[in-house]
Amino acid sequence: MSREDLFNFDVLVIGSGAAGLTLALDLAADYRVAVLSKGEMSAGSTARAQGGIAAVLEQGDTFESHVEDTIVAGAGLNNRAAVEFVVERAPAAVEVLNKLGVRFNVGETPEQPFHLTREGGHSRRRIVHVDDATGYAVQNALVAKAMAEPNITFFGNRFAVDLITERHTANGGERHCYGAYIFNAETSSVERFTARATVLATGGASRVYLYSTNPDGSTGDGIAMAWRAGCRVANMEFNQFHPTCLYHPQVKNFLITEAMRGEGAHLKLPDGTRFMPDFHPDAELAPRDIVARAIDHEMKRLGVPHVLLDISHRDPDFVISHFPTIYRRLLELDIDITKEPIPVVPAAHYTCGGVLSDLAGHTDLPGLYAIGEAAHSGLHGANRMASNSLLECLVFGHAAAEDIRNRMNGYPAPPEAAPWDESRVEDSDEAVVVTHNWAELRQFMWDYVGIVRTTKRLERAQHRVKLLRREIQEYYGNFRVTRDLLELRNLVTVADLIVRSALARKESRGLHYTLDYPELLPDARDTILEPWAVS
Ligand code: FAD
Ligand code: SIN
Repeated sequence: MSREDLFNFDVLVIGSGAAGLTLALDLAADYRVAVLSKGEMSAGSTARAQGGIAAVLEQGDTFESHVEDTIVAGAGLNNRAAVEFVVERAPAAVEVLNKLGVRFNVGETPEQPFHLTREGGHSRRRIVHVDDATGYAVQNALVAKAMAEPNITFFGNRFAVDLITERHTANGGERHCYGAYIFNAETSSVERFTARATVLATGGASRVYLYSTNPDGSTGDGIAMAWRAGCRVANMEFNQFHPTCLYHPQVKNFLITEAMRGEGAHLKLPDGTRFMPDFHPDAELAPRDIVARAIDHEMKRLGVPHVLLDISHRDPDFVISHFPTIYRRLLELDIDITKEPIPVVPAAHYTCGGVLSDLAGHTDLPGLYAIGEAAHSGLHGANRMASNSLLECLVFGHAAAEDIRNRMNGYPAPPEAAPWDESRVEDSDEAVVVTHNWAELRQFMWDYVGIVRTTKRLERAQHRVKLLRREIQEYYGNFRVTRDLLELRNLVTVADLIVRSALARKESRGLHYTLDYPELLPDARDTILEPWAVS
């Protein structure tokens, strides 16, 4: 391999969603920053976000109220310091986007600079939005600004395979992350990207489940890479299932925003009766874990493939003006939401756990940061409250950038890392192994590690994870890497972490509900997995 495979920057940002781009933009004035995406720049979850961003922006609302709502939704497992940190920085984070040109919907009076919508768990209207396509507007504004920054170099179709640490250098040296090995999907070769600071902003892992609202790339790559590099991960049992994903034979992962329930939509059984009032006093606006579990319960009780979400009782102009994207998309599928209900099912949506990180995004590995959905910052506890995620990306993007700026001079310059070794691998002769294992993994995660769990189901899943891990590792050791193989390797690691964490929690809390331990334990404790303690 020639030295053409070597790239050096001050900061390597793996991921070009809200978290990665926020950080990159903050550092661009002073440092050379590489931003990587394994696909297009806007292929992550950020561009799909619908509902909006939660922030205290109106008189009458308070930080205390946003904090308490977040902790109630998180079933008390949240780290209060992290919640306060994020909530207090929310108005400023929204202002940064506003200045970048994100056109949030405006309020009706001069005292209301923004139109605020409402979602589950929030005790009041608190969510700024751009119609029902907030993430698209945020992503576009961040990308436009990043493209105009001469110090930011963007690399698409570059897949981070593994982190480079002192173990990959000739002289060892101090424990530090020096960058990553990157698979260039255009040349099918593996390159070395080195940097003094490396940031995982790789998003979540919801594609480990058969049905998900997420884009294809949400395969937990950052979590798996950090784990392999010796970092702890936390609370991986808390996968959030969004209650209302469109149920349609052709369109598998289209979300129907919770804001629709915030604006009055009702969940109904096939015969038209509402059922959420029987499950929670806040009915359709109960926290997401409760609504998803209620839907799951009703679907199983009645043996039906979906329930209905109905906003047709509201004025058609109101519906179309508030939900123009959903209205148009569903009309293409012959569903007129102003006249008829929408078939919906819960689907995997958000990874509350992730790489254990602190308020500056530090992980266990010096020089390595984790931010956004890839991280476990302590904000979400056992269940993320709606519209707190984009916010987390923004706040920790800024916080980690500030920390990098403060520490940059003390970080070691990267030594030369060993080139990628392909001397013992050949081209795959049986790609079917990858596609088969991929399908099997997602199916059993859905069936055995879903909304309602039992110890027996989790043990079944663990048994299969073990077999798949062995088979995939063997395949990885023998064949040249491809994007599919790399994603599968990460997915099986993430599945293993989820199942281990779920088996370790002997209670039902938030998103982790098991029939074998239906009660809540008095003490709220994180599940922290240590790579050095796991076989
Ligand atoms: P992402 O935006 O997912 O970006 C991940 C980036 O990492 C991508 O660029 C990807 O290519 C890159 N990447 C991943 N792995 C690798 C690798 N191995 N090598 C190189 N690059 C890699 N949250 C809210 O707060 N409000 C909402 O209204 C909302 N609505 C949502 C609607 C939908 C349909 C979905 C799916 C999520 C929604 N969320 C919402 C959640 C929120 O959008 C995400 O949690 C958030 O956008 C995650 O941002 P991120 O920057 O961490 O990662
Ligand atoms: C939605 O719009 O329902 C998604 C909001 C979120 O995931 O925070």
